[in-house]
Amino acid sequence: MGKEVRQKMEQMGLEDISSPKINELISQSQEAYKKAYAPYSQYQVGAAVLWDSGQIVAGCNVENASYGLTSCAERNSIFHGVFLGERKIKAVAIAVPTDAFPSPCGACRQVIREFAQDCLVILVNGKGERKITSLKELLPESFGPEYL
Ligand code: THU
Repeated sequence: MGKEVRQKMEQMGLEDISSPKINELISQSQEAYKKAYAPYSQYQVGAAVLWDSGQIVAGCNVENASYGLTSCAERNSIFHGVFLGERKIKAVAIAVPTDAFPSPCGACRQVIREFAQDCLVILVNGKGERKITSLKELLPESFGPEYL
Protein backbone atom coordinates (compact mmCIF):
# COMPACT_ATOMS: atom_id res chain seq x y z
CA MET A 1 0.00 0.00 0.00
CA GLY A 2 2.63 2.52 1.07
CA LYS A 3 4.57 1.64 -2.07
CA GLU A 4 1.59 2.21 -4.36
CA VAL A 5 0.88 5.62 -2.83
CA ARG A 6 4.52 6.60 -3.05
CA GLN A 7 4.70 5.55 -6.73
CA LYS A 8 1.60 7.58 -7.48
CA MET A 9 2.93 10.67 -5.74
CA GLU A 10 6.20 10.39 -7.63
CA GLN A 11 4.40 9.88 -10.94
CA MET A 12 2.26 12.95 -10.21
CA GLY A 13 5.25 15.02 -9.18
CA LEU A 14 3.62 15.54 -5.80
CA GLU A 15 5.37 16.29 -2.56
CA ASP A 16 5.85 13.15 -0.48
CA ILE A 17 3.33 12.46 2.28
CA SER A 18 4.49 10.18 5.11
CA SER A 19 2.93 6.75 5.57
CA PRO A 20 1.59 7.53 9.08
CA LYS A 21 -0.13 10.63 7.67
CA ILE A 22 -1.70 8.63 4.82
CA ASN A 23 -2.86 5.97 7.29
CA GLU A 24 -4.34 8.63 9.55
CA LEU A 25 -6.12 10.21 6.58
CA ILE A 26 -7.63 6.87 5.60
CA SER A 27 -8.72 5.97 9.11
CA GLN A 28 -10.36 9.40 9.60
CA SER A 29 -12.35 8.91 6.37
CA GLN A 30 -13.48 5.49 7.63
CA GLU A 31 -14.53 6.93 10.99
CA ALA A 32 -16.36 9.72 9.20
CA TYR A 33 -18.79 7.55 7.21
CA LYS A 34 -20.11 6.17 10.51
CA LYS A 35 -21.43 9.66 11.22
CA ALA A 36 -23.27 10.02 7.90
CA TYR A 37 -26.86 11.24 7.97
CA ALA A 38 -28.22 9.20 5.06
CA PRO A 39 -31.76 8.05 5.92
CA TYR A 40 -32.94 8.23 2.28
CA SER A 41 -30.15 6.57 0.28
CA GLN A 42 -28.62 4.57 3.15
CA TYR A 43 -25.35 5.25 1.33
CA GLN A 44 -22.84 6.40 3.93
CA VAL A 45 -19.78 8.35 2.78
CA GLY A 46 -16.86 9.69 4.78
CA ALA A 47 -14.18 12.04 3.50
CA ALA A 48 -10.97 13.28 5.06
CA VAL A 49 -8.90 16.09 3.61
CA LEU A 50 -5.19 16.57 4.28
CA TRP A 51 -4.43 20.27 3.98
CA ASP A 52 -1.10 21.93 3.27
CA SER A 53 -0.69 22.80 6.97
CA GLY A 54 -0.76 19.10 7.85
CA GLN A 55 -4.20 19.36 9.41
CA ILE A 56 -6.75 16.66 8.53
CA VAL A 57 -10.41 17.67 8.40
CA ALA A 58 -13.13 15.05 7.98
CA GLY A 59 -16.81 15.15 7.02
CA CYS A 60 -19.76 12.95 6.13
CA ASN A 61 -22.72 13.21 3.79
CA VAL A 62 -25.81 14.93 5.16
CA GLU A 63 -29.09 14.24 3.37
CA ASN A 64 -32.34 16.18 3.45
CA ALA A 65 -36.03 15.34 3.01
CA SER A 66 -35.84 17.83 0.14
CA TYR A 67 -33.39 15.50 -1.62
CA GLY A 68 -31.61 18.10 -3.74
CA LEU A 69 -30.32 19.82 -0.62
CA THR A 70 -28.16 16.83 0.24
CA SER A 71 -24.53 17.68 0.81
CA CYS A 72 -21.72 15.25 -0.02
CA ALA A 73 -19.04 14.17 2.46
CA GLU A 74 -16.27 15.67 0.32
CA ARG A 75 -17.79 19.12 0.17
CA ASN A 76 -18.69 19.11 3.85
CA SER A 77 -15.11 18.32 4.84
CA ILE A 78 -13.64 20.87 2.42
CA PHE A 79 -15.96 23.66 3.51
CA HIS A 80 -15.18 23.01 7.15
CA GLY A 81 -11.44 23.13 6.36
CA VAL A 82 -11.91 26.50 4.65
CA PHE A 83 -13.73 27.75 7.75
CA LEU A 84 -10.68 26.67 9.78
CA GLY A 85 -8.48 28.83 7.55
CA GLU A 86 -7.18 26.16 5.16
CA ARG A 87 -6.77 26.95 1.46
CA LYS A 88 -4.63 24.23 -0.16
CA ILE A 89 -5.48 20.53 -0.41
CA LYS A 90 -2.70 17.93 -0.43
CA ALA A 91 -4.77 14.74 -0.42
CA VAL A 92 -8.31 13.47 -0.04
CA ALA A 93 -9.47 10.07 1.22
CA ILE A 94 -13.06 8.94 0.59
CA ALA A 95 -14.44 5.87 2.33
CA VAL A 96 -17.66 3.85 2.15
CA PRO A 97 -18.81 0.66 3.90
CA THR A 98 -19.84 -1.06 0.65
CA ASP A 99 -17.79 -3.51 -1.45
CA ALA A 100 -17.79 -1.14 -4.43
CA PHE A 101 -15.29 1.70 -4.35
CA PRO A 102 -16.62 5.23 -3.92
CA SER A 103 -16.23 7.82 -6.64
CA PRO A 104 -16.53 11.55 -5.97
CA CYS A 105 -19.37 13.22 -7.89
CA GLY A 106 -18.62 15.81 -10.55
CA ALA A 107 -19.53 18.72 -8.31
CA CYS A 108 -17.14 17.54 -5.58
CA ARG A 109 -14.33 17.06 -8.10
CA GLN A 110 -14.73 20.68 -9.10
CA VAL A 111 -14.78 21.83 -5.48
CA ILE A 112 -11.55 19.91 -4.79
CA ARG A 113 -10.14 21.66 -7.88
CA GLU A 114 -10.80 25.02 -6.29
CA PHE A 115 -8.18 24.20 -3.65
CA ALA A 116 -5.74 22.02 -5.63
CA GLN A 117 -4.51 21.96 -9.23
CA ASP A 118 -3.79 18.31 -8.56
CA CYS A 119 -3.76 16.15 -5.46
CA LEU A 120 -3.69 12.57 -4.30
CA VAL A 121 -7.13 10.91 -4.05
CA ILE A 122 -7.52 7.65 -2.14
CA LEU A 123 -10.74 5.67 -2.53
CA VAL A 124 -11.49 3.12 0.18
CA ASN A 125 -14.17 0.43 0.15
CA GLY A 126 -15.76 -1.45 3.03
CA LYS A 127 -13.17 -4.22 2.85
CA GLY A 128 -10.46 -1.65 3.49
CA GLU A 129 -9.13 -2.00 -0.07
CA ARG A 130 -7.67 1.18 -1.58
CA LYS A 131 -7.70 2.62 -5.05
CA ILE A 132 -5.09 5.31 -5.60
CA THR A 133 -5.85 8.04 -8.09
CA SER A 134 -5.43 11.78 -8.50
CA LEU A 135 -7.58 14.82 -9.14
CA LYS A 136 -6.06 15.19 -12.63
CA GLU A 137 -7.15 11.67 -13.50
CA LEU A 138 -10.64 12.27 -12.15
CA LEU A 139 -11.01 15.73 -13.69
CA PRO A 140 -8.74 16.19 -16.71
CA GLU A 141 -8.36 19.51 -18.54
CA SER A 142 -10.11 21.25 -15.68
CA PHE A 143 -11.10 24.84 -15.14
CA GLY A 144 -9.89 26.55 -11.96
CA PRO A 145 -9.28 29.83 -10.15
CA GLU A 146 -6.16 30.79 -12.11
CA TYR A 147 -8.27 31.21 -15.28
CA LEU A 148 -10.00 34.24 -13.79
N1 THU B 1 -22.39 11.12 -1.88
C1 THU B 1 -21.29 11.62 -1.24
O1 THU B 1 -21.35 12.04 -0.08
N2 THU B 1 -20.13 11.64 -1.93
C2 THU B 1 -19.95 11.09 -3.16
O2 THU B 1 -18.85 11.10 -3.65
C3 THU B 1 -21.08 10.50 -3.87
C4 THU B 1 -22.40 10.70 -3.25
C5 THU B 1 -23.63 11.00 -1.10
C6 THU B 1 -24.72 11.95 -1.44
C7 THU B 1 -25.93 11.18 -0.96
O3 THU B 1 -26.10 11.40 0.42
C8 THU B 1 -25.57 9.73 -1.16
O4 THU B 1 -24.16 9.70 -1.29
C9 THU B 1 -26.19 9.09 -2.38
O5 THU B 1 -26.00 9.85 -3.50
